[in-house]
Amino acid sequence: MKQNEAIGIFDSGIGGVTVLKEIINILPNEKYIYYSDSKNNPYGDKSDQQINIFCENIVEFFITKKCKAIVIACNTASAKSVQYLREKYKNIPFVAIEPAYKMVYDYTYDEPTLVMATKGTIESEKFNLLYHKYDNHKTILLPCVGLADIIEENNEEKIKIYLKEHLEIYKGKVKNVVLGCTHYPLIKQEIKQVLGDVQFFDGAPYLAKHLRELLKEKGLINNQTIENTIQFIDSLNDEQKKKRFFEIIKE
Ligand code: DGL
Repeated sequence: MKQNEAIGIFDSGIGGVTVLKEIINILPNEKYIYYSDSKNNPYGDKSDQQINIFCENIVEFFITKKCKAIVIACNTASAKSVQYLREKYKNIPFVAIEPAYKMVYDYTYDEPTLVMATKGTIESEKFNLLYHKYDNHKTILLPCVGLADIIEENNEEKIKIYLKEHLEIYKGKVKNVVLGCTHYPLIKQEIKQVLGDVQFFDGAPYLAKHLRELLKEKGLINNQTIENTIQFIDSLNDEQKKKRFFEIIKE
């Protein structure tokens, strides 16, 4: 039965855990296989071709696991490769995260906004289409080169220094912050320490609803009550990451 099969979800590292948590909230009776691609991390500064290859390998792995749907829990991979993957794997339902810039347009159009994302996402055609469609003309696009790496390392000291160096100039000047990389929701508090009381926009809750709708539409929801099972796979078998991943899931 297809309904019993797992949902595959991946990111360049553990950032996608912020997406998985939102999914689990509204899809409690599912099995999940999470793939963290430490071997090729970070994705933020890689070419489109490289990212296509990384994603393809992960998708092939999920196919061997018979996943019924695949979640791209990485903004960079979504921005660069989702179209390619959808064309190549026509029978697989893909759901892909994107920076929640439309939410700013819908809910708080007039406020000055900072979009934080990887260089790859900010320079991508997909993000630029979204940005120009919903541009509020009070937006700063900030490519946060290297930030996902130090979140991945869990290096608190480096994160503090990075944020001070790159964000302090926006203190008092922005009200909205779009968290355009799945790693960034892990450092909301640290961002607030520098920027003050800003409002965050994160695409993960929206993605979770979209996934639920898609599974419903395709008759793929698992309606039997089961205990959530999450299998964590890291392409470098990084045990530390695995430990941290499950700690964050439980928080
Ligand atoms: N977490 C990823 C994203 O949402 C990318 C981090 C990276 O590997 O650069 O963009």
